Amino acid sequence: MKKPLPADSGILFPKDLPAEPVDWLRLFGKEGPVELEVGCGKGRYLLERAADHPDRLFVGLEFARAYVLTIEKRARQRGLANIRLFREEAARFFRDCLGDRSLHAFHLFYPDPWPKTRHHRRRLIQDEFLADLRRVLVPGGIIQIATDHEGYFEWMARKFNQWKGTFLIEADIIDSPRKRHGLKGRTNYEVRFLEEGRPLYFLNGQRTGF
Ligand SMILES: C[S@@+](CC[C@H](N)C(=O)[O-])C[C@H]1O[C@@H](n2cnc3c(N)ncnc32)[C@H](O)[C@@H]1O
Repeated sequence: MKKPLPADSGILFPKDLPAEPVDWLRLFGKEGPVELEVGCGKGRYLLERAADHPDRLFVGLEFARAYVLTIEKRARQRGLANIRLFREEAARFFRDCLGDRSLHAFHLFYPDPWPKTRHHRRRLIQDEFLADLRRVLVPGGIIQIATDHEGYFEWMARKFNQWKGTFLIEADIIDSPRKRHGLKGRTNYEVRFLEEGRPLYFLNGQRTGF
């Protein structure tokens, strides 16, 4: 059983999941394009992006209690009114809590790679998840994924490839992303991997209009 979270601050939503898709207007109190990050860790990317785009609405999904509390504290300190957090498992949240064409962007940075074959079914990117991603992204909705794990990269590329007419995805492998692209770390893991000089793998694209 999940350890309860502190009383609702307006940013964090630890309550029972809604039985119907989340109503963004009710949740944020205003309208705007919604971007969602899965496994946002300590929230470096989500917080920076929310500060840079006050006209957009940001949802973070993260099941680590300590992390959602950190993000919530920082969002409050920075006066960010356009962030909401759910301490939830992403596949379930996508299946049960997201309405059709309700997201304008999906971000997934350095998801757990589950390297052992017998654990591959725990990977987030599965056929069922992509069916939900297709359903919830608006046509033209952005997809941004990064991983340091070659095997998971290939797995994800193969899965997206099966949905060629639905997702337009470009794969990119970069040996020294900091040198070649001046990439500054967007997330804590990315900062660490860049410092270590590891090859990084990217899948960027969008949901097509069909
Ligand atoms: C390897 S860390 C990467 C964190 C962050 N994205 C970064 O790049 O620094 C993966 C994070 O995703 C969270 N996570 C993994 N699977 C998840 C899932 N199915 N639903 C929600 N959060 C998940 C973990 O708790 C962890 O914080």
